[in-house]
Amino acid sequence: MLDDYSLPEHSASLPLQNKLALITGASGGIGRATSLALARKGCSIAVHYHSSKDKAEALVSELSKINGITAMAFQADLSNYDNVRKLHAEVIRHMGHPDILFNNSGTTNSVIGPNGNIEDVSIEEFESTWKTNTGSSYLTSLNGLYPGTGGVIGPHYASSKSAMHGMLHWIAMRYAKDGVTCNAVAPALIIETSMMANPPDHLRDRIPVGRFGRPHEIASVVEMLVTNSYMTNKVCTDPRDFFGDFFAAVFH
Ligand SMILES: NC(=O)c1ccc[n+]([C@@H]2O[C@H](COP(=O)([O-])OP(=O)(O)OC[C@H]3O[C@@H](n4cnc5c(N)ncnc54)[C@H](OP(=O)(O)O)[C@@H]3O)[C@@H](O)[C@H]2O)c1
Repeated sequence: MLDDYSLPEHSASLPLQNKLALITGASGGIGRATSLALARKGCSIAVHYHSSKDKAEALVSELSKINGITAMAFQADLSNYDNVRKLHAEVIRHMGHPDILFNNSGTTNSVIGPNGNIEDVSIEEFESTWKTNTGSSYLTSLNGLYPGTGGVIGPHYASSKSAMHGMLHWIAMRYAKDGVTCNAVAPALIIETSMMANPPDHLRDRIPVGRFGRPHEIASVVEMLVTNSYMTNKVCTDPRDFFGDFFAAVFH
């Protein structure tokens, strides 16, 4: 809760020392960069991963070198709701209740692009994408108490991400009075990630700054969101808002 923070006078910045952040998909590019950024401000990190055990363990050992914080890895396939519940319970059991929840994990599944054929995405794939990207975020938010359009991937990914916008707006409005801030980041296109390891060159031309983004540039936006004491119910998108698509929710 916001009241738990003692804000220095004239500062809108919430201290992260002795806080705990659960970061889903911390084994990926943006999750890793955000874990390191928050840990450097004194925040302990529950590092979630799905299949990239080596990356998660390497991150935990890197985080453990930072003074005054703790980090542990937790495995879960978030397309399975029982696993989402188990992840939450395990984090609480080993590290305590998270103060910050970054619903960052996500999957594209098939990439058919704007010119693909709709029948190339089966209903099974559509539903499984939605469960991983949206349903699991709903459940983690329910458990703790927490978005874009995804247009360059396909209809399954796009709908799974845009649904997060509606969820964000409701949660932010409902829980603001309880001291919970809830905001989203909808970045694009971020390289040094598994899902955007090699984006085609022509996509660069659609990005206002004329280059692809890097994970630490998104981590710094998330850091701003989790340390700002006032802003809520906002989606930080890329400037032209045509790719945006995932969300970070923060509750204090
Ligand atoms: N890169 C971009 O340009 C871009 C643009 C817009 C939005 N985003 C969003 O940014 C977020 C972070 O992605 P990223 O860019 O850092 O890509 P990434 O490097 O591919 O990371 C994706 C993360 O999601 C996890 N994940 C995938 N499927 C999962 C499942 N079934 N259960 C649990 N976790 C699962 C992966 O875990 P494992 O590796 O351990 O399997 C990995 O940690 C995602 O929500 C993505 O949709 C990215």
